[in-house]
Amino acid sequence: MKLAVNVDHIATIREARGSIEPEPVLAALLAEQAGAEGIVCHIRGDRRHIKERDLRLFRDEIKTKLNIEMAATEEMKNIALDIKPDIVSLVPEREEELTTEGGLDVISNENNLNPHIQDLKKAGIKVSIFVDPDLKQIEACHRIGVNLIEINTGKYAELKPGEAQQKALDEIRKAAESGHKLGLEVHAGHGLDYNNVRPVAAIPEIKEFSIGFSIVARSAFVGIEKAVKEMVALIE
Ligand code: PXP
Repeated sequence: MKLAVNVDHIATIREARGSIEPEPVLAALLAEQAGAEGIVCHIRGDRRHIKERDLRLFRDEIKTKLNIEMAATEEMKNIALDIKPDIVSLVPEREEELTTEGGLDVISNENNLNPHIQDLKKAGIKVSIFVDPDLKQIEACHRIGVNLIEINTGKYAELKPGEAQQKALDEIRKAAESGHKLGLEVHAGHGLDYNNVRPVAAIPEIKEFSIGFSIVARSAFVGIEKAVKEMVALIE
């Protein structure tokens, strides 16, 4: 299983002071050296952390895979066609939210998403959709022709160990199995940390994890290389 590290919150620290440091691309390179097999970032409509200059630097410097999360808007599509990341992850976005709040509703947006995805794929970009562990939504992802899905682990991550968390884990497992059966590459992420990642990492259909906040938070104390290595060890 692979770890892709989301470095948004390195940029959040930079923006807290409107400064030039810490430098997200440096964090990305150190994460790669420590074993990350991909770098993820989210360019938001309000540019609250990652900005276009970060994307350009990532594209030039990253040696693994660049995965850019973005809303399915024309503005963002044009950025993707310009930067040409390896993967675009389509996510829903609400201006007031602190972080992505749920998976994309593919069923209700199938007609708009279809041409959007085709434009990205024509440019050689793999398209991922961030989706709740809901079998109907996953079937819709397959219908519109995405290459991969990222299952939202947010609900599982918010729950304390117990019956409800076990149920949320089962939903993720079933979703991963059904995505895999449909021929989709299955990734997972959101809210995963050093305490809750192991049961999800035991699901064999999930090939990659996208983890950000917990790694950046830990890196404040132990450094990003150690924080990444510890997470790699847990998911392996
Ligand atoms: N996956 C998606 C689609 C996300 O939006 C985020 C948060 O940016 C993550 C994964 C990573 O979540 P976290 O920062 O909680 O690890």
